Amino acid sequence: MSPIDFDFLKKLYSRFADSPKDNSETDKEKIQPLPFTMADEDQRREMWEETGNLLLKQGAVAAFTLAGGQGSRLGFEGPKGAFDFGLPSHATLFRLQARRLMNLGAKAGKPIPWAIMTSPLNREATVQHFEEHSYFGYNRDYIRFFDQGMLCALKPDGTPLQDENGDYVEAPDGNGGCFRALAASGTLAWFVEKGVRFLFLCNVDNALVKMADPIFIGALATSGLPCAAKVVHKKSADEKVGIFASRNGKPCVLEYSDISDALRTTTNADGSLQFDGGNTGMYLFRMDALRKISTQELPWHAARKTVNGVANCWKFEQFLLDAFPFLGKIFLFGVEREDEFAPIKNATGNDSPEVARKWLGKLHRFWLEKAKVRIKPEMLYEISPRLTYAGENLSQEVFDRELGRGIFEFPA
Ligand code: UD1
Repeated sequence: MSPIDFDFLKKLYSRFADSPKDNSETDKEKIQPLPFTMADEDQRREMWEETGNLLLKQGAVAAFTLAGGQGSRLGFEGPKGAFDFGLPSHATLFRLQARRLMNLGAKAGKPIPWAIMTSPLNREATVQHFEEHSYFGYNRDYIRFFDQGMLCALKPDGTPLQDENGDYVEAPDGNGGCFRALAASGTLAWFVEKGVRFLFLCNVDNALVKMADPIFIGALATSGLPCAAKVVHKKSADEKVGIFASRNGKPCVLEYSDISDALRTTTNADGSLQFDGGNTGMYLFRMDALRKISTQELPWHAARKTVNGVANCWKFEQFLLDAFPFLGKIFLFGVEREDEFAPIKNATGNDSPEVARKWLGKLHRFWLEKAKVRIKPEMLYEISPRLTYAGENLSQEVFDRELGRGIFEFPA
């Protein structure tokens, strides 16, 4: 455990003590929606895919999973990536990510370097999950785990929180801590040594995440921009996603915990939401942009939470998405949520395991239908990423051979 910087904590507390939502917008005039187009409809799609595949062949792309969060809303004891959300294969979120990367790596003829950020609270359990599953067959030289930073929680009066043994209670310092931790852990250097020029980043919990998507990579590579993010149209004003916007001419994400109700609910004349670009937690950075961010101090966000049984404690976090204003420009890549976005956040209801299972089942059924495979339309399907990355290479022959092995049927 690193020494605790009490002066720094004191400063954070005094900044937020009167106004916990210090990050919400102050001058509405300067905040505008950031338009985006759907990548599916873009004529450059094929060219992007070719470029992305070429970069994968050159070994110029790496993946990075943010897995240091505590996943408290889901109520699962272990690391979220080790969560089995009830697919017939019992694939965990980590296994899906690993196997999708392996599919692309096999096509490219090169493994994709993959870094996983944990926190000291879930590092051991995460590595154990990989050990127990022989790293899902991933080339061990191409996986790397590292810890993010921790910060002491404060009691409601601003003094450091201690447990019953007198030890300070620390929590992860937010996913924005990844930039500091990437550099400090030597992971940035590891990427550079491997010749990586583009880094795909994602949350741990999206069951449909297209890891290191070649089309996404090609789109950024040919754009000349420093970074890109996948966005979906928001489901409703209340959906708990950040929203891409422009603040004083620079791209930003208005996080759902910080945005004002006024902006969140503003509609256009046709009733659609004005601030509509929902953040899916899938990002792409050029390495030089990443290096630039790792030298910046991102803003802090404060949250009041029950910690160790003490209500209304202060927790401070940095958000990865606050990096975007520093980079000046971003490529917003619109995707259909049913193709790419099924996050598992809650035990039941919205964004639950049940919903993610259904969405994956429907998407894979659609892939089979597109390949003209005879299926039972009332059933859902799960296809192993060993067979396909995004619906390619499927046929009746593959289906007949793989049903019950790499393809599973399950009730809707
Ligand atoms: C996040 C995004 C939100 C987006 C949504 C999409 C942030 C701050 N917000 O919200 O804009 O619309 O995902 O699903 O990213 N993590 C760490 N260390 C931490 C905290 C979190 O690695 O200290 C990781 C988590 O393990 C997870 C990811 O960051 O993989 C996102 O964290 P989570 O708490 O799930 O974010 P949301 O509030 O859902």
